[in-house]
Amino acid sequence: MKVEMLRLIDLPEMLGNVPGKLSFYQEASDALFEIRRAYWIYDVPDGATRGFHAHTELKQLLVCMAGSVQIDLENLRGEQFQFTLDRPSKALFITPVHWRTMKFRQDSVLMCLASELYSEDDCIRDYQAFKALQVKANT
Ligand code: TYD
Repeated sequence: MKVEMLRLIDLPEMLGNVPGKLSFYQEASDALFEIRRAYWIYDVPDGATRGFHAHTELKQLLVCMAGSVQIDLENLRGEQFQFTLDRPSKALFITPVHWRTMKFRQDSVLMCLASELYSEDDCIRDYQAFKALQVKANT
């Protein structure tokens, strides 16, 4: 059954008669969403933060392929969450609508699998606009 909530997911870590490990995420009957886009963020200076937006419809699965990224999130109820992605076998499922910031360590690579094509219309980039949505959702 699909559970539509923000959460960390442990991906398989495959070991075989070969060096190293292999993790994967694939569409299956219990898949979180149909993947329509993949993108990745890299070359971010150590300690720098990106994000500062929320999505109204988009669902995402974030995987830190190298290094470590701290993700801070806030939902429409004003609850705050923090996750550290530091293994390629850990995935963070982000549902709408979460304001997020992502703090990168040196040489980190963050990959995102997304449920929709890129649309700036789906982005809320003004924190006050996000706060206004919070008020609306709670009245
Ligand atoms: P942005 O959403 O600001 O990055 P972050 O998730 O780190 O906050 O995106 C940076 C720029 O890249 C912005 O101009 C929009 C563009 N972009 C695309 O063209 N396609 C995409 O799939 C994404 C995620 C961003």
